[in-house]
Amino acid sequence: MAFGGVQVPRTLLCVNVSRLATLRAARGGNEPDPAEAARICAKTGCNSIAVRLREDRSRIQDRDVLAIRKAIPENGKVYLEIALSGEMIDFARRVRPSRVTIVPENKEDMTAQGGLDVRKNMLEIRSAVDIFDREEIPVSLFVEPEIEMIDLSKECGARFIEINTGTYSNATEKTEIYREIDRIYRASERAAEVRIRINAGCGLNYTNVAPLVHAKELLEVNIGHAIIERADSVGLSTAVEEMMAILD
Ligand code: PXP
Repeated sequence: MAFGGVQVPRTLLCVNVSRLATLRAARGGNEPDPAEAARICAKTGCNSIAVRLREDRSRIQDRDVLAIRKAIPENGKVYLEIALSGEMIDFARRVRPSRVTIVPENKEDMTAQGGLDVRKNMLEIRSAVDIFDREEIPVSLFVEPEIEMIDLSKECGARFIEINTGTYSNATEKTEIYREIDRIYRASERAAEVRIRINAGCGLNYTNVAPLVHAKELLEVNIGHAIIERADSVGLSTAVEEMMAILD
């Protein structure tokens, strides 16, 4: 988009297809297929696909992750979201995603607002980052928009953070919404200062994403539910195109 005569790069779209497995689990059987959705999203032109594998396999299955990897062209990006466990790390090493995002799965690994508690898990995160560094797989940490979490993420050697926008997305009062936007902007500025790349996601939709795209260091937004829900009315390709138009 031309902004004041200067070409400002668009915020990239990562479509999170995990929500389709929730839908599939509600009914049982094989449909909808997250890999088929990933293929359509990639063909429509989103930057990347994200998929979350939970330890209890209640939604996305191992076979889904493998099928998504296969469905995306050789140079396409697939991000795998996993908890900090040996089993998940081993699985990710086998799948070789374009990036691994470490997300908290148990209450003990979370901060009060749901991001990864980097301070509490410092040693384990460092060791996971080292393992993935050796495999040349970049690591992202799903954290709150807090200066401390950003600095600690950098200290752990993570190359990316994904800011948890859950609190912002759930906010209903104007003052709370502005306060959360401010936290996200400050977080993106801090990320730029310490040189860690920044993405954002959780609860973003066709309305609330717009104020965030001007945080200039924000590279990519990770959106699942809103796109899958919109696809029900307009089809998946159109739902992806509409979101990309907002980010442009
Ligand atoms: N980011 C992370 C780390 C996630 O786990 C998810 C959901 O799987 C999302 C973003 C997408 O969230 P939503 O479905 O609310 O858009």
